[in-house]
Amino acid sequence: MKITINQAKDYVNQEVTIGVWLANKRSSGKIAFLQMRDGTAFMQGVVVKAEVEEEIFQLAKSMTQETSFYVTGTIQEDTRSPFGYEMAVKGIQVIAEAHDYPITPKEHGTEFLMDHRHLWLRSNRQHAIMKIRNEIIRATYEFFNREGFIKIDPPILTGSAPEGTTELFHTKYFEEDAYLSQSGQLYMEAAAMAFGKVFSFGPTFRAEKSKTRRHLIEFWMIEPEMAFYELKDSLEVQENYVAFLVKSVLDHCALELERLGRDTTVLEKMIAPFPRITYTDAVKLLKEKGFDDIEWGEDFGAPHETAIADSFEKPVFITHYPKGIKPFYMPEDPENPDVVLCADLIAPEGYGEIIGGSERIHDLDVLLERIKEFGLDEEAYSWYIDLARYGSVPHSGFGLGLERTVAWLTGAEHVRETIPFPRLLNRLYP
Ligand code: 4AD
Ligand code: MG
Repeated sequence: MKITINQAKDYVNQEVTIGVWLANKRSSGKIAFLQMRDGTAFMQGVVVKAEVEEEIFQLAKSMTQETSFYVTGTIQEDTRSPFGYEMAVKGIQVIAEAHDYPITPKEHGTEFLMDHRHLWLRSNRQHAIMKIRNEIIRATYEFFNREGFIKIDPPILTGSAPEGTTELFHTKYFEEDAYLSQSGQLYMEAAAMAFGKVFSFGPTFRAEKSKTRRHLIEFWMIEPEMAFYELKDSLEVQENYVAFLVKSVLDHCALELERLGRDTTVLEKMIAPFPRITYTDAVKLLKEKGFDDIEWGEDFGAPHETAIADSFEKPVFITHYPKGIKPFYMPEDPENPDVVLCADLIAPEGYGEIIGGSERIHDLDVLLERIKEFGLDEEAYSWYIDLARYGSVPHSGFGLGLERTVAWLTGAEHVRETIPFPRLLNRLYP
């Protein structure tokens, strides 16, 4: 019977065959322990000299790391390992030998591992992080489908820039100029006017010269947009969504979280609702904490966000930022025109902003004025202005950065480990 490692629990005391790679190995004169992986999971194979043909035992002892083989044996419960099962090996059939595999169980520097990302992905730790990323993706679709959202795919090649023009990747579109999408938001607003509640999930590109543990050049964003929703309604969707992501990872990725050494007691507290603080109160809080370098009107840096987040156990919404540091589409607060109706969600433990969102201007005259004020090309935005021209309604939306969320839930230090092939300021390889 040919199975995969993650099916082992259904085959206890049965003889099975699994296609695997050798991740690691320990052996003595009488017994060899093979750490085997098949993509679905990792499992130990035990080869006892006295119980197999001499040829098989010698093969097990001499096999090199990342050699691929079919292994045959009996699945047994193994209460000492977190996985819970191991194989008493009877037969080994080598498929392809691997010699001098560059990533050995010893410590390697980050740049070396990043240069070998195509192989590094096979490691135990990277496997656990990608499984959690996959669970967040799965849970995202479950949440928005359950809540009645329709998935809409905005274009990647665009002629307009929702978040400002400084960080756009330029390309030629035959004779025209085009940009890689930095956010699908404006298209999602059009979709919300057609379908009510929509969400997108796609790659976005930022030509940002930032070299921090939170910045990627190419990252994936989930962008919901809701017609007839005000900011407070949108915040409720956000906290329920994020709490659902945390719960899904806790429920379905216990083994992976353990492999990563993630403290799950802190994650178990991430239950909606989340606290809210205005930008203005956040500035006061920072001053109280001894930050003299921040003045009202300036954007927060990573140390500021971390200090604010440290005052709360759960993720915190910072609301009502100054108008001057936010994009053109955010409406003024009718009670205070110096600030806009927006919120960023800051994750705990220094992981920073995981969501940016706001209400959107729906008044035609206000929008036209703002487009002028920001020096945007009215013609390029003419389709977007149509949305305010024909039956405009209050609406809100937000964008959640997948990689920052994965970093937070897995406890990864840097976002480069949270995407299969990271694009960074100085890295396009592999
Ligand atoms: O705050 P941002 O720039 O918001 C927007 O793009 C809005 N148009 C979204 C919307 O309202 N539909 O980006 C949203 C999120 C951030 O909170 C962050 O999690 C992530 O995207 N993000 C990045 N992640 C990795 N690397 C980068 N360079 C990122 N820039 C933003
Ligand atoms: Mg933002």
